[in-house]
Order: sequence, then C-alpha cells, then structure tokens
Amino acid sequence: MARINENYLKLKAGYLFPEIGRRVREYAQAHPEKEIIRMGIGDVTQPLVPSVVAAFQEGVSEMANGETFKGYGPEQGYGFLREAIARFDYQSRGVNISPDEIFVSDGSKCDTGNIQEIFGHDNKVAICDPVYPVYADTTVMSGKTGVCQANGYFEGILYMPCNESNGFIPEIPTERPDLIFLCFPNTPTGTVATREILTQWVDYALKNQCILLFDAAYEAYITDPSIPHSIYEIEGAKKVAIEFRSFSKTAGFTGTRCAFTVIPDELMAYDGLGQAHPVKPLWMRRHTTKFNGVSYPVQKAAAAIYTEQGAKEVKEVVQYYLENARIMTESLKEQGFTVFGGVNAPYVWVKTKNNLTSWEFFDLLLQEAHVVGTPGSGFGPSGEGYFRFSAFADRSNVLKAMERLKALHF
Ligand code: MLT
Repeated sequence: MARINENYLKLKAGYLFPEIGRRVREYAQAHPEKEIIRMGIGDVTQPLVPSVVAAFQEGVSEMANGETFKGYGPEQGYGFLREAIARFDYQSRGVNISPDEIFVSDGSKCDTGNIQEIFGHDNKVAICDPVYPVYADTTVMSGKTGVCQANGYFEGILYMPCNESNGFIPEIPTERPDLIFLCFPNTPTGTVATREILTQWVDYALKNQCILLFDAAYEAYITDPSIPHSIYEIEGAKKVAIEFRSFSKTAGFTGTRCAFTVIPDELMAYDGLGQAHPVKPLWMRRHTTKFNGVSYPVQKAAAAIYTEQGAKEVKEVVQYYLENARIMTESLKEQGFTVFGGVNAPYVWVKTKNNLTSWEFFDLLLQEAHVVGTPGSGFGPSGEGYFRFSAFADRSNVLKAMERLKALHF
C-alpha cells in the first residue's frame, strides 16, 4: 500500500498566493468589466534590462552553434557567475566569500524550502510571525512539527511574534531553537535589521550552536548605507549562517529563474553524538544529486548584472519600484492609514481600518476598488489586521490604485 507523507495533511488547504489568485480569478470572471490592479504577490512588472537581454540572447546563440553549444553545466553553477557574485556581492563589501561557497539555483523559494532536507527532523525551527509562508510550510512538510493548533501555530515551531511594539523585529527567543529563519529586508513587513540587531543574532547563534537561515532576497532595496546587505558583514556569521539571494527582485528574474545560496566552509552542524560536520558538503551532495543546474543562457543573463552597464540598469529598475513604494506610503499615510516598511524594501505594510480583518479588507478592496493586495493574516496570526501592498507594479497602476482607495473614504 502506497503511503502518503502525512505531514502534508497538516498543512492549510492552499498556499497563500494561489489562494489569492483563485479569489481574484473568481471575481474577474463574475465582473469581466472591472479593471483589476494587482499588488498582491511580489511579482515584478518591468521588463529585463537591455544588458541582461543582450547576454541572454548571446547565450541562446551560443547554444544554437555547434562550436559553442553546451550540454549539462556544473550543478553548482558556472564559474563565471559564481566568481562575479563573490566579487561584486561580497568581496566588494569586505566579505571574504569564495566562488566555491556559492550554489546557483533556480530560486530562493526552492532553496529555503529544500535546505530543510539536510537537517534532522528533530531540529527546533524558529520563524517570525508574520513570515514568508514557505519557511513554515516546508518545516511542516519536512516532519519537524505536530499539527496546527487553534491559534494558527503549528506544534513544535518556535514562533517569534513581530508586531508594532517590537518594531516588527523578532526578539531573541527564551527557548533555544536549532534553525532560525530570518529575512531582511523583510517580507511581508518591509522592515530592515540594523547591524546591532544582526550582531545580536549572530552572537546568539554562535553561543547556542544554532544556524541562521538568512533570506536576503530583497537586499538590492537597501538604500540606507548603515544597513548590512549580507549577514556575512557581521563578524562570526560565516560560522553560523546560510544566506539566500535571488535575481528575481534584484533583476526582474521571477519568470527567468536564477538565485543562489551561500554556505561557507566554516559552517558546522552536529550529529547525534555531538560531533561537528561541515554543512557545505551535505548541500553539495543534495544539489548534485537532485539538481542539474540553471540553464546556460539564464546564468549568462544573470552575470550581466555585474557589468558596469548592467548594474546601472538594474539599479534604475530597483529605484523605480522604490519610488512606487514611496508614493504608496505617502498616499496611504495621507489617507490616515498606519503604514510601515516601504523604505529600503519593496513592500508596504498597512494596518487595516475600522477593525476589519485582513481578509475582510482584502474583499473590500477587491470588490469596491478592484485592487489586490495580500492579507496580513496569510503570513501568520500576528499579521491579522494588516495588509501588504507590493510595489512591483506599473507606476500608472500605483497612482490609479491610490486614487481608488482614496475614493473609498474609510
Ligand atoms: C511574495 O510576494 O512574497 C513573493 O513574491 C513570493 C515569492 O518570492 O515566492
């Protein structure tokens, strides 16, 4: 008898974003005349920049020529891309990460989920609440939890509530976790962590033999020079942190797919006898067994963002989305909303009005303004009463959406 992985039965019915998509589709089918503005899932809207397109096309041309054609590439990623990442994303910031500590992949969503596989089932996982749902769902899928309780929390996960009173920054837990997911700049709240905050986490992990799973997918949105872009800017972090980065939001690759994960040589985890083992070879083993690498033209396209012209072009697009975030923040504040994030991050985190729940607010906006956002409660119980707007939209839609919200006269 074939048996299922019963951990899947513990999950809530659907993943958050497809559920939003389903509701929006239903509404659109019933009201085909309404023009819907989508600011829900953080999906980019601006096209790939010219340098990236040219490199992509060059890569395709090489594949079309017998002399330059490539079959399987290195699973870990081509050297030219890993060398560019090491030099421009790390060494230029004084961080000594070498190309062989970098693993190119098809997305940080996949990597933050798949990483669970190389850690034992008995690890205690700490996550923020609200949180990017992938961290919680994949912790459940990997069998590290019990069932979901009435309060929306899974047994066995250590939740770190992030709310207005702690500035949406998780506090160091009193109970000791083994794996700790952190994401800065944060989705969904748009908050950033200062050097002092990150230092506290690294020191805590060093003292308690924990591993920080640091998602830096939105680092390109940091404009404040005092905010670290990488966890490895903090002393000692190479011993305790894995970092996830993505080209999705940095360079518009949500449909093109390219990301990378950094596992430093010094990072150790322990077996049942307490003996230390380097983590990198485990991930290498997993990656080379289950993954055949990102396609050559895509890696070539990704490498183009590290040229002088490519870097300038992607920066302009990031600025465009940040300007959207600024416009939304100002308008929502003018409308009397309490607003967080939106600076150093592409997400604007808003308190609903009139005590509406997150999903009530979602329905109201969809039905009355035809604007889609993401209900805060979809990111966890502490997100109840909040709503996330994504700045990854066309400017004209941002302006139109703000006008429509204004007209609702909350
Ligand atoms: C989001 O909206 O939070 C992200 O776009 C989802 C993702 O990156 O998977």
